[in-house]
Amino acid sequence: MSDYFWFEGIPFPDTVYKREIIEESHDKFVIRDEDTVIVSYPMSGNNWLIEIVCLIQNKGNPKWIQSVLIWERSSWIETKKGLPILINTEGPRLMSSHLPLHLFPKSFFRSKAKVIYVIRNPRDVLVSAYFFLHNTKIIDNPESLGTYIEWFLKGNVPYGSWFEHTRNWLSMRENDNFLLLSYEDMKKDSINIKICDFLGKKLEPDELDLVLKYSSFQAMKENKMSNFSLVSEDVVNNGLVLMRKGITGDWKNHFTVAQAEAFDKVFQERMAGFPPGLFPWK
Ligand code: A3P
Repeated sequence: MSDYFWFEGIPFPDTVYKREIIEESHDKFVIRDEDTVIVSYPMSGNNWLIEIVCLIQNKGNPKWIQSVLIWERSSWIETKKGLPILINTEGPRLMSSHLPLHLFPKSFFRSKAKVIYVIRNPRDVLVSAYFFLHNTKIIDNPESLGTYIEWFLKGNVPYGSWFEHTRNWLSMRENDNFLLLSYEDMKKDSINIKICDFLGKKLEPDELDLVLKYSSFQAMKENKMSNFSLVSEDVVNNGLVLMRKGITGDWKNHFTVAQAEAFDKVFQERMAGFPPGLFPWK
């Protein structure tokens, strides 16, 4: 794959990532006890969760989310632009990452920092990534969804195998400083109370209503600080859309029966041993 460089077994698109930065974020970047990190495999709802947490931190006041770019409110640990912002920020930081567990900053494992890990039906993740990548210059476009399914099942996609990423991060799920959420659960309004509890925030019912209102799919689609319309033209083809559909089960509109069966087989093999309740999708 000429679009990628490989680091510790993981393919990173060389259009947007630098080996030295991944290395620095893993070896040298210091995560502090008071930090919160939002982690997911790409296209699982990471930006949605950033919006929710930013709103919770401000008791539903949308001023911050409407005036500061989402990747500056919660910068990406493993990116050239994000890492220096984080290094230079004092006090409790909110940050994001798609790194697999074995490449995550080593300092995290000696800290009390909190991680919220979001999972999503990998079939929906795959469809979401397929359409998102088509509007970018991040990798050469696969010729069809079928080709992308093949790459995805082999882990030859940005950040590698969904199965490995998820298996490894799920091993953290009993830790006190780890909250596991699913995109499917985030569709339930009550999930924000769980996030508040984890972050030690107490919001009034009207403040929770504001969090819901300003983190809705439509509100985020209209917020140019969050909808990726301001992503650098270096990586965009023509008009990048992050807020595409925002639904669960869209894969059913795109997979053939044979593709769905092939996917199921790999899922059963690779995710054997986990309680089925961990994966709240059909
Ligand atoms: P779709 O392409 O299926 O629409 P990430 O932020 O991790 O890259 O995830 C992107 C996916 O999250 C996209 O999925 C996007 O529409 C969805 N998403 C973003 N904000 C959302 C929101 N407020 N409500 C529901 N889905 C949202």
